[in-house]
Amino acid sequence: MFTDTATQAVSTLIDNFGREISYLRLSITDRCNLRCRYCMPEEGVTFLDHSKILSYEEMETLVRVALRLGIKKVRITGGEPFARKGCMDFLERLKLQLGVPALHVTTNGVVLQQYLADLKRIGISGINLSLDTINRGRFENITRRDQLDSVLSSFYEALRLSIPLKVNSVIQADTTDDEIVELAKLITMHPVSLRFIELMPFSGKKSGADNTPAISVEERLRSLFPGMTEISSDVIETARIFHIPGAAGTVGIIEGHSRKFCSTCNKIRITSQGILKTCLYDRGVCDLRSLIREGADDEQVANVIVNRVSKRYEHGKLAEEKTLQTPVQETMSRIGG
Ligand code: GTP
Ligand code: 5AD
Ligand code: SF4
Repeated sequence: MFTDTATQAVSTLIDNFGREISYLRLSITDRCNLRCRYCMPEEGVTFLDHSKILSYEEMETLVRVALRLGIKKVRITGGEPFARKGCMDFLERLKLQLGVPALHVTTNGVVLQQYLADLKRIGISGINLSLDTINRGRFENITRRDQLDSVLSSFYEALRLSIPLKVNSVIQADTTDDEIVELAKLITMHPVSLRFIELMPFSGKKSGADNTPAISVEERLRSLFPGMTEISSDVIETARIFHIPGAAGTVGIIEGHSRKFCSTCNKIRITSQGILKTCLYDRGVCDLRSLIREGADDEQVANVIVNRVSKRYEHGKLAEEKTLQTPVQETMSRIGG
């Protein structure tokens, strides 16, 4: 697969619909220090045994292979990535030894503050912070933990250090207009990208009782922010981005459940168990952990990834239809978003 092993030549990873795959989301743990109700069932989930989770060494192998296949952007996710011991050292090795061109992390921010100076030092390309509300009681109601203050401290410290920051807010059926407007105040003064996310059915519930709102996120935002205008861009992104007059930052909409951005989907996922997913909505297309533990070398791992990427579903609705039972029972904490 690699054209020139000696010089570590980089190839390009293209799927069967001509989409270039340049973005890897790697979940390093299924554990979390919050219990968000749309991401885990109330009774909690049984966390995976350590032996089932990829070691840091195995993950470095996978990232090395991915980079040589043409991956340029790597996002580290969880559960909560910083809930795994050694996460910061791992990020440092990815950036400074493996040379990941664009290294990002998605975090709930609870223990983030202590790592921000190091993240800045290694040249992190951006942090996506999950924050659905800035009301303390409501935060506890959604996450089942009283941790808003730590998240906000991380938010302000990241801003102070000028680390590019996005805030992810999931809109649920009981999200109020006031909450949305309060969150949007964060972007009036700060150059932050605030993205409102459609709820997706990955709470681990057995019934279809996920808390999906009746009106679309776009309709909702347009009524709350009448001057909002869409910013067109050539960059491939999950979010549509909008300008609100007078705001330093932007608002965005992630239509993850409507799946409106599949035609430009440039990403693959590897879960903390080493399962490769070529779509968020598929059930997983191969077990890279077993492959590595059975002794496959980099080239063999690369061949498997290329092969799976050449058999992607055209869009997430098809992936769901073909591979998942309905309703979805997987938890976002295991997939990493
Ligand atoms: P950027 O790289 O900054 O654009 O972030 P991102 O949106 O790719 O990643 P993030 O971890 O911040 O995820 C935000 C939300 O988008 C989460 O709810 C993810 O589940 C959702 N999301 C990310 N990528 C995809 C995707 O390819 N398909 C779908 N359906 N949802 C996605
Ligand atoms: N639907 C939509 N987004 C979700 N996230 C977690 N669970 C869901 C869900 N069921 C978001 C988190 C985090 C990102 C990784 O995924 O808010 O920001
Ligand atoms: Fe990609 Fe699947 Fe998301 Fe569509 S639903 S954008 S194919 S991950």
